[in-house]
Amino acid sequence: MKRERKWHNILPLGDLVSGDVTPARLGRLDLAVYDTEEGVFVSLARCTHQGANLCYGYFDGFAIECPLHQGLFDVRTGKPLAAPATRKLRMLDCRIADGMVQVLR
Ligand code: FES
Repeated sequence: MKRERKWHNILPLGDLVSGDVTPARLGRLDLAVYDTEEGVFVSLARCTHQGANLCYGYFDGFAIECPLHQGLFDVRTGKPLAAPATRKLRMLDCRIADGMVQVLR
């Protein structure tokens, strides 16, 4: 039977670092929450190249640079922008509600 997806709180809005990336967790999943001019986006925190935690990377505008080999991703889509990153980041649907960042899972 297919599990029904629902919204989960992952981060109080007050803990979101303005214009930067903020770590969060959902169960055993490490998440990266990006605050951009176009709103908030959430991805799995692990880089698709070799698994470094993107929350320790350099974030600028809409791009997160991996701290390990400097692969680059667009946080709006997860699209890789620079080698050695070649696979998309896994993005999660997210929203702001009740003063919380929430993801659909
Ligand atoms: S682990 Fe991220 S670019 Fe290599």
